[in-house]
Amino acid sequence: MPDDTSELARTFDEVSGDFDALTPTVWGPAGQALVFQLGVRPDDRVLDACCGTGASALPAAAAVGPNGRVHGVDVAGNLLECGRLVAEQRALKNIDFVCADVTTWEPPSDVPAAGYDALAISYGVFFLPHMDSAFARLVGLVRNGGRVGVTVWRADGIDRFTELAFDVASRHSPRLADGQHAGKDSPWRAISTPPTLEAWLAAAGTHSVEVRTLSNLLPATAELCWNFVMATGLRALLSGLDAEGIDAVRRDIADEITARSIHTIDATTLVGTATVRRPPATV
Ligand SMILES: C[S@@+](CC[C@H](N)C(=O)[O-])C[C@H]1O[C@@H](n2cnc3c(N)ncnc32)[C@H](O)[C@@H]1O
Repeated sequence: MPDDTSELARTFDEVSGDFDALTPTVWGPAGQALVFQLGVRPDDRVLDACCGTGASALPAAAAVGPNGRVHGVDVAGNLLECGRLVAEQRALKNIDFVCADVTTWEPPSDVPAAGYDALAISYGVFFLPHMDSAFARLVGLVRNGGRVGVTVWRADGIDRFTELAFDVASRHSPRLADGQHAGKDSPWRAISTPPTLEAWLAAAGTHSVEVRTLSNLLPATAELCWNFVMATGLRALLSGLDAEGIDAVRRDIADEITARSIHTIDATTLVGTATVRRPPATV
Protein backbone atom coordinates (compact mmCIF):
# COMPACT_ATOMS: atom_id res chain seq x y z
CA MET A 1 0.00 0.00 0.00
CA PRO A 2 1.37 3.46 -0.75
CA ASP A 3 1.98 5.63 2.31
CA ASP A 4 -1.06 7.90 1.85
CA THR A 5 -3.32 4.83 1.61
CA SER A 6 -1.76 3.36 4.78
CA GLU A 7 -2.34 6.70 6.48
CA LEU A 8 -5.99 6.66 5.34
CA ALA A 9 -6.37 3.08 6.57
CA ARG A 10 -5.03 4.20 9.96
CA THR A 11 -7.38 7.19 10.10
CA PHE A 12 -10.43 5.11 9.19
CA ASP A 13 -9.38 2.28 11.51
CA GLU A 14 -9.22 4.85 14.30
CA VAL A 15 -12.68 6.19 13.49
CA SER A 16 -14.27 2.74 13.57
CA GLY A 17 -15.74 3.19 17.08
CA ASP A 18 -17.45 6.40 15.95
CA PHE A 19 -18.07 5.72 12.27
CA ASP A 20 -21.54 4.23 12.62
CA ALA A 21 -22.74 7.29 14.58
CA LEU A 22 -23.36 8.78 11.12
CA THR A 23 -24.88 5.66 9.60
CA PRO A 24 -28.54 6.39 10.44
CA THR A 25 -28.40 9.99 9.22
CA VAL A 26 -25.73 10.09 6.49
CA TRP A 27 -24.00 6.91 5.26
CA GLY A 28 -27.12 4.72 5.44
CA PRO A 29 -29.59 6.87 3.46
CA ALA A 30 -26.98 7.56 0.77
CA GLY A 31 -25.96 3.90 0.53
CA GLN A 32 -29.58 2.84 0.16
CA ALA A 33 -30.24 5.56 -2.44
CA LEU A 34 -27.18 4.46 -4.44
CA VAL A 35 -28.27 0.81 -4.52
CA PHE A 36 -31.78 1.87 -5.57
CA GLN A 37 -30.55 4.17 -8.34
CA LEU A 38 -28.12 1.50 -9.57
CA GLY A 39 -31.11 -0.81 -9.99
CA VAL A 40 -29.34 -3.74 -8.33
CA ARG A 41 -31.31 -6.90 -9.07
CA PRO A 42 -31.61 -10.44 -7.72
CA ASP A 43 -28.62 -12.66 -8.64
CA ASP A 44 -26.37 -9.69 -9.48
CA ARG A 45 -22.64 -9.69 -8.65
CA VAL A 46 -21.80 -6.36 -7.04
CA LEU A 47 -18.47 -4.78 -6.15
CA ASP A 48 -18.67 -2.20 -3.37
CA ALA A 49 -15.39 -0.28 -3.35
CA CYS A 50 -14.48 1.64 -0.16
CA CYS A 51 -17.39 -0.11 1.54
CA GLY A 52 -16.61 0.92 5.14
CA THR A 53 -19.13 -0.74 7.47
CA GLY A 54 -21.41 -1.60 4.56
CA ALA A 55 -23.77 1.38 4.12
CA SER A 56 -24.30 0.44 0.47
CA ALA A 57 -22.87 -3.10 0.53
CA LEU A 58 -25.47 -4.38 3.01
CA PRO A 59 -28.52 -3.05 1.08
CA ALA A 60 -26.88 -4.42 -2.08
CA ALA A 61 -26.66 -7.85 -0.43
CA ALA A 62 -30.36 -7.65 0.40
CA ALA A 63 -31.13 -6.64 -3.20
CA VAL A 64 -29.15 -9.44 -4.89
CA GLY A 65 -30.59 -12.14 -2.66
CA PRO A 66 -29.18 -15.58 -1.86
CA ASN A 67 -28.01 -16.32 -5.42
CA GLY A 68 -26.21 -13.03 -5.86
CA ARG A 69 -22.92 -11.94 -4.31
CA VAL A 70 -21.47 -8.70 -2.96
CA HIS A 71 -17.76 -8.07 -2.49
CA GLY A 72 -17.15 -5.14 -0.15
CA VAL A 73 -13.55 -3.95 -0.27
CA ASP A 74 -11.95 -1.48 2.11
CA VAL A 75 -8.53 -0.79 3.62
CA ALA A 76 -9.89 -0.26 7.13
CA GLY A 77 -10.11 -3.69 8.76
CA ASN A 78 -11.95 -2.38 11.84
CA LEU A 79 -14.77 -0.93 9.74
CA LEU A 80 -15.09 -4.21 7.85
CA GLU A 81 -15.40 -6.08 11.13
CA CYS A 82 -18.43 -3.89 12.04
CA GLY A 83 -19.94 -4.70 8.62
CA ARG A 84 -19.40 -8.43 9.13
CA LEU A 85 -21.24 -8.26 12.47
CA VAL A 86 -24.25 -6.55 10.90
CA ALA A 87 -24.27 -9.05 8.01
CA GLU A 88 -24.28 -11.85 10.56
CA GLN A 89 -27.12 -10.23 12.54
CA ARG A 90 -29.12 -9.99 9.31
CA ALA A 91 -28.19 -13.57 8.33
CA LEU A 92 -26.74 -12.29 5.04
CA LYS A 93 -24.43 -15.00 3.76
CA ASN A 94 -23.93 -13.52 0.30
CA ILE A 95 -21.50 -10.75 1.22
CA ASP A 96 -17.72 -10.85 1.69
CA PHE A 97 -15.92 -7.99 3.41
CA VAL A 98 -12.37 -7.94 2.07
CA CYS A 99 -9.50 -5.93 3.52
CA ALA A 100 -7.50 -4.59 0.57
CA ASP A 101 -6.49 -1.49 -1.32
CA VAL A 102 -9.19 -1.45 -4.00
CA THR A 103 -6.91 0.35 -6.46
CA THR A 104 -4.88 -2.83 -6.89
CA TRP A 105 -7.34 -5.50 -5.74
CA GLU A 106 -8.23 -8.25 -8.22
CA PRO A 107 -11.67 -9.93 -8.15
CA PRO A 108 -11.73 -13.59 -7.13
CA SER A 109 -12.26 -16.30 -9.72
CA ASP A 110 -15.98 -16.75 -8.90
CA VAL A 111 -16.72 -13.39 -10.58
CA PRO A 112 -17.74 -14.03 -14.22
CA ALA A 113 -14.98 -13.21 -16.74
CA ALA A 114 -17.23 -10.51 -18.25
CA GLY A 115 -17.16 -8.68 -14.92
CA TYR A 116 -19.45 -7.50 -12.14
CA ASP A 117 -23.04 -6.45 -12.82
CA ALA A 118 -22.65 -3.35 -10.70
CA LEU A 119 -20.06 -1.19 -8.96
CA ALA A 120 -20.97 1.02 -5.98
CA ILE A 121 -18.64 3.57 -4.37
CA SER A 122 -20.28 5.63 -1.67
CA TYR A 123 -18.25 8.62 -0.41
CA GLY A 124 -15.07 6.77 -1.36
CA VAL A 125 -13.89 7.60 -4.87
CA PHE A 126 -12.31 10.93 -3.88
CA PHE A 127 -10.00 9.15 -1.44
CA LEU A 128 -8.41 7.06 -4.17
CA PRO A 129 -5.02 8.30 -5.33
CA HIS A 130 -5.27 9.30 -9.01
CA MET A 131 -9.07 9.34 -8.73
CA ASP A 132 -9.80 9.33 -12.49
CA SER A 133 -7.56 6.42 -13.42
CA ALA A 134 -8.49 4.49 -10.26
CA PHE A 135 -12.18 4.89 -11.15
CA ALA A 136 -11.53 3.90 -14.79
CA ARG A 137 -9.82 0.72 -13.56
CA LEU A 138 -12.79 -0.13 -11.33
CA VAL A 139 -15.24 0.55 -14.18
CA GLY A 140 -13.15 -1.95 -16.17
CA LEU A 141 -14.15 -4.64 -13.65
CA VAL A 142 -17.83 -4.23 -14.65
CA ARG A 143 -19.37 -5.99 -17.64
CA ASN A 144 -20.59 -4.20 -20.75
CA GLY A 145 -24.11 -2.97 -19.88
CA GLY A 146 -23.41 -3.22 -16.16
CA ARG A 147 -24.05 -0.30 -13.83
CA VAL A 148 -21.67 1.96 -11.93
CA GLY A 149 -22.48 4.54 -9.29
CA VAL A 150 -20.95 6.86 -6.75
CA THR A 151 -22.12 9.19 -4.03
CA VAL A 152 -20.20 12.40 -3.33
CA TRP A 153 -20.83 15.46 -1.18
CA ARG A 154 -22.43 18.32 -3.11
CA ALA A 155 -20.37 21.54 -3.32
CA ASP A 156 -21.51 24.33 -1.00
CA GLY A 157 -23.00 21.77 1.33
CA ILE A 158 -20.67 20.13 3.79
CA ASP A 159 -17.92 22.74 3.06
CA ARG A 160 -19.34 25.20 5.52
CA PHE A 161 -18.86 22.78 8.37
CA THR A 162 -15.48 21.42 7.21
CA GLU A 163 -14.18 25.00 6.97
CA LEU A 164 -15.33 25.67 10.49
CA ALA A 165 -13.77 22.44 11.80
CA PHE A 166 -10.50 23.29 10.08
CA ASP A 167 -10.48 26.87 11.44
CA VAL A 168 -11.04 25.62 14.98
CA ALA A 169 -8.55 22.74 14.76
CA SER A 170 -5.84 25.01 13.35
CA ARG A 171 -6.09 27.21 16.46
CA HIS A 172 -4.98 24.20 18.49
CA SER A 173 -2.68 22.44 16.06
CA PRO A 174 0.45 24.27 14.83
CA ARG A 175 0.73 21.73 12.01
CA LEU A 176 -2.51 23.10 10.46
CA ALA A 177 -1.81 26.76 11.10
CA ASP A 178 -0.04 27.41 7.78
CA GLY A 179 -3.27 28.69 6.28
CA GLN A 180 -3.71 25.79 3.84
CA HIS A 181 -7.39 25.01 3.85
CA ALA A 182 -8.07 21.34 4.49
CA GLY A 183 -9.48 19.71 1.43
CA LYS A 184 -9.47 22.87 -0.68
CA ASP A 185 -7.69 21.03 -3.45
CA SER A 186 -9.40 17.69 -2.81
CA PRO A 187 -10.22 15.83 -6.04
CA TRP A 188 -13.78 15.67 -4.74
CA ARG A 189 -14.26 19.30 -5.79
CA ALA A 190 -13.94 18.32 -9.45
CA ILE A 191 -17.09 16.14 -9.22
CA SER A 192 -19.14 18.01 -6.62
CA THR A 193 -21.85 19.53 -8.86
CA PRO A 194 -24.42 17.70 -11.02
CA PRO A 195 -22.89 18.80 -14.37
CA THR A 196 -19.29 17.98 -13.38
CA LEU A 197 -20.25 14.60 -11.92
CA GLU A 198 -22.32 13.82 -15.04
CA ALA A 199 -19.41 14.69 -17.35
CA TRP A 200 -16.94 12.70 -15.24
CA LEU A 201 -19.11 9.56 -15.30
CA ALA A 202 -19.58 9.85 -19.06
CA ALA A 203 -15.82 10.31 -19.57
CA ALA A 204 -15.23 6.99 -17.81
CA GLY A 205 -16.90 5.19 -20.75
CA THR A 206 -20.56 5.13 -19.75
CA HIS A 207 -23.97 6.18 -21.08
CA SER A 208 -27.41 6.81 -19.52
CA VAL A 209 -25.78 8.94 -16.83
CA GLU A 210 -28.15 10.10 -14.09
CA VAL A 211 -27.17 12.42 -11.26
CA ARG A 212 -29.72 13.03 -8.54
CA THR A 213 -29.48 15.24 -5.48
CA LEU A 214 -30.19 13.67 -2.12
CA SER A 215 -31.03 16.62 0.09
CA ASN A 216 -29.91 16.01 3.68
CA LEU A 217 -30.16 18.97 6.05
CA LEU A 218 -29.37 17.90 9.60
CA PRO A 219 -29.93 19.98 12.75
CA ALA A 220 -26.46 21.17 13.85
CA THR A 221 -26.52 19.84 17.40
CA ALA A 222 -23.20 19.78 19.26
CA GLU A 223 -23.36 15.99 19.18
CA LEU A 224 -23.87 15.74 15.43
CA CYS A 225 -21.08 18.26 14.79
CA TRP A 226 -18.69 16.19 16.86
CA ASN A 227 -19.82 13.00 15.14
CA PHE A 228 -18.91 14.61 11.81
CA VAL A 229 -15.39 15.25 13.05
CA MET A 230 -14.93 11.84 14.64
CA ALA A 231 -16.54 9.70 11.94
CA THR A 232 -15.09 11.20 8.75
CA GLY A 233 -11.72 12.07 7.25
CA LEU A 234 -11.93 15.24 9.41
CA ARG A 235 -10.64 13.03 12.23
CA ALA A 236 -7.18 13.57 10.73
CA LEU A 237 -7.41 17.19 11.97
CA LEU A 238 -7.04 15.87 15.51
CA SER A 239 -3.87 13.91 14.90
CA GLY A 240 -1.04 15.01 17.17
CA LEU A 241 -3.42 16.56 19.75
CA ASP A 242 -3.57 15.18 23.31
CA ALA A 243 -6.86 14.53 25.14
CA GLU A 244 -6.95 18.08 26.44
CA GLY A 245 -6.42 19.52 22.95
CA ILE A 246 -9.16 17.29 21.54
CA ASP A 247 -11.56 18.43 24.28
CA ALA A 248 -10.73 22.04 23.48
CA VAL A 249 -11.48 21.49 19.77
CA ARG A 250 -14.79 19.87 20.65
CA ARG A 251 -15.77 22.77 22.92
CA ASP A 252 -14.67 25.40 20.41
CA ILE A 253 -16.56 23.76 17.56
CA ALA A 254 -19.77 23.91 19.61
CA ASP A 255 -19.08 27.59 20.44
CA GLU A 256 -18.24 28.44 16.84
CA ILE A 257 -21.43 26.84 15.56
CA THR A 258 -23.34 29.25 17.78
CA ALA A 259 -21.11 32.23 16.92
CA ARG A 260 -21.56 31.64 13.16
CA SER A 261 -25.30 31.06 13.61
CA ILE A 262 -25.09 27.68 11.92
CA HIS A 263 -28.31 25.78 12.51
CA THR A 264 -27.94 23.07 9.91
CA ILE A 265 -25.23 20.75 8.70
CA ASP A 266 -25.77 20.40 4.99
CA ALA A 267 -24.89 16.81 4.13
CA THR A 268 -26.57 17.04 0.73
CA THR A 269 -25.16 14.37 -1.52
CA LEU A 270 -25.06 13.68 -5.24
CA VAL A 271 -25.94 10.18 -6.32
CA GLY A 272 -24.52 9.51 -9.78
CA THR A 273 -25.12 6.34 -11.77
CA ALA A 274 -24.46 5.22 -15.33
CA THR A 275 -24.30 2.20 -17.61
CA VAL A 276 -20.97 0.83 -18.84
CA ARG A 277 -20.33 1.00 -22.57
CA ARG A 278 -17.45 -1.24 -23.56
CA PRO A 279 -16.09 -0.65 -27.09
CA PRO A 280 -16.39 -3.75 -29.30
CA ALA A 281 -13.23 -5.86 -29.32
CA THR A 282 -11.09 -5.33 -32.43
CA VAL A 283 -9.84 -8.35 -34.35
C1 LIG B 1 -16.20 8.07 4.11
S1 LIG B 1 -15.83 6.37 4.15
C2 LIG B 1 -17.24 5.70 3.30
C3 LIG B 1 -17.51 4.26 3.67
C4 LIG B 1 -18.82 3.67 3.11
N1 LIG B 1 -18.80 3.57 1.67
C5 LIG B 1 -20.01 4.47 3.57
O1 LIG B 1 -20.63 5.16 2.74
O2 LIG B 1 -20.31 4.43 4.77
C6 LIG B 1 -14.54 6.17 2.96
C7 LIG B 1 -13.94 4.78 2.97
O3 LIG B 1 -13.01 4.66 1.91
C8 LIG B 1 -12.03 3.71 2.33
N2 LIG B 1 -10.87 3.79 1.43
C9 LIG B 1 -10.13 4.87 1.15
N3 LIG B 1 -9.15 4.56 0.26
C10 LIG B 1 -9.29 3.24 -0.02
C11 LIG B 1 -8.58 2.33 -0.87
N4 LIG B 1 -7.53 2.70 -1.60
N5 LIG B 1 -9.01 1.04 -0.92
C12 LIG B 1 -10.07 0.63 -0.19
N6 LIG B 1 -10.76 1.46 0.64
C13 LIG B 1 -10.38 2.74 0.72
C14 LIG B 1 -11.77 4.15 3.76
O4 LIG B 1 -11.09 3.18 4.52
C15 LIG B 1 -13.18 4.42 4.25
O5 LIG B 1 -13.76 3.30 4.83
